[in-house]
Amino acid sequence: MERARELDILDRVMAHRAAGNTTDMAPEMYANPVATYVEGDRYEREVERLFRGCPIVACLSCDVADPGDHVTLSITDVPVLVVRGEDGTVRAFRNVCRHRGVTVAEGRGCGARSFMCPFHGWSYRLDGRLVNPTHRAGFAGLDRSTHGLSEMACGEAAGLVFVHIDGAAGSLDAAEWLGDLGAELIDVGLGRYEHLETRSSHRAMNWKLMGDTFCEQYHLRHLHHASFAAAIQSDNSLYDASGRHGRMVTPAFSIEALDHRPRSEWPLFPHVVLSYMIRPNTILLVQRDHTELFQLLPDGAGHSISRASLYSTGAAPSDTGRQRITGAFDMILDVIDREDYEMCEQTQRSFGSGAQRELLFGRNEPGLIHFHQSIEAMLQHGGLRDHRPVDASRPGGPAHVPLPGRSMAVAAPMRQRGDQDP
Ligand code: FES
Ligand SMILES: [Fe+2]
Repeated sequence: MERARELDILDRVMAHRAAGNTTDMAPEMYANPVATYVEGDRYEREVERLFRGCPIVACLSCDVADPGDHVTLSITDVPVLVVRGEDGTVRAFRNVCRHRGVTVAEGRGCGARSFMCPFHGWSYRLDGRLVNPTHRAGFAGLDRSTHGLSEMACGEAAGLVFVHIDGAAGSLDAAEWLGDLGAELIDVGLGRYEHLETRSSHRAMNWKLMGDTFCEQYHLRHLHHASFAAAIQSDNSLYDASGRHGRMVTPAFSIEALDHRPRSEWPLFPHVVLSYMIRPNTILLVQRDHTELFQLLPDGAGHSISRASLYSTGAAPSDTGRQRITGAFDMILDVIDREDYEMCEQTQRSFGSGAQRELLFGRNEPGLIHFHQSIEAMLQHGGLRDHRPVDASRPGGPAHVPLPGRSMAVAAPMRQRGDQDP
């Protein structure tokens, strides 16, 4: 990462420490309606406008580095096949055979020359064209040109591959979707990564509750007192909104070592974890030698799949390095499953109790507030065209709870320092 960016991050974290363990604060508290997590109509709008109407991260570019490399996943019941073609272009298709609808490719793989449907053996080229139906006499006269795989919009930027389910082939400008965050992600160097493994977990909660647990550090010292809290901090954290996307910085306790080193020698890693929030549903946790990609995939209003992929941040780690990285992945998934997602499932169950109509997000949870503001803005404005934070004064918009003497400007930068109670 650019040295000036690293030092800006470290300076801000050290300023919070010097101020008595403060943290970045939102301008005001935020009350988020419980209905946004449970209502079927709302869920249908999210599927239509966010998951099918917006670019969604399907994988990293390194997952499909060479022609024939491919990844499959399901996004709100749409099976998706992402593959790099012989011309080097990454394309995305509905992973559905045009004969009778069977899934054409399973899992992921490298160097495929074509994809053959397991049912009756129809095969498709990497660019989706139907090669030939088996049993030519049975399909004599079939127009092959209209029976290729159904293509959707797909594009790459900063080492991320996006698909837009309702978009036409060639219509996705992934760099525009990433906006200013793209330059920083290029700097992070996702293109050098190597995929190690992917695991999925199906849980009984709305997808946004899954997202919520990644968007604040407030819970670390309490929920994770016997796990993460020994190494990483609840306080001294940063949040920066970047259009609809965001970046959260979580310091490790090891950052105390910088007190005894000149600023010019301060390293960023291993003293922070960078969490990139790519709307609507993707989180990248970047650490020194590995990165976790979390894709939060809705499966109904009250059920979601957490798809977690592990990457080494440099190609071909040593056996020892790979073991260490995989061990860290085991640990983080275990904690997230047993602690975070357990809390989120409790929260989802509590929605039926009638105890509250809103969840309250504190000023010390700016990433959480921005997540929901961005989602509301994308729902209201159709996602692709506009990423302004939602207008709090809009009738029917989420309620904002003003603090005495605080600005009501919802669009104010999230980055505020040092005004937290000790
Ligand atoms: S369903 Fe694919 S070949 Fe028949
Ligand atoms: Fe957590």
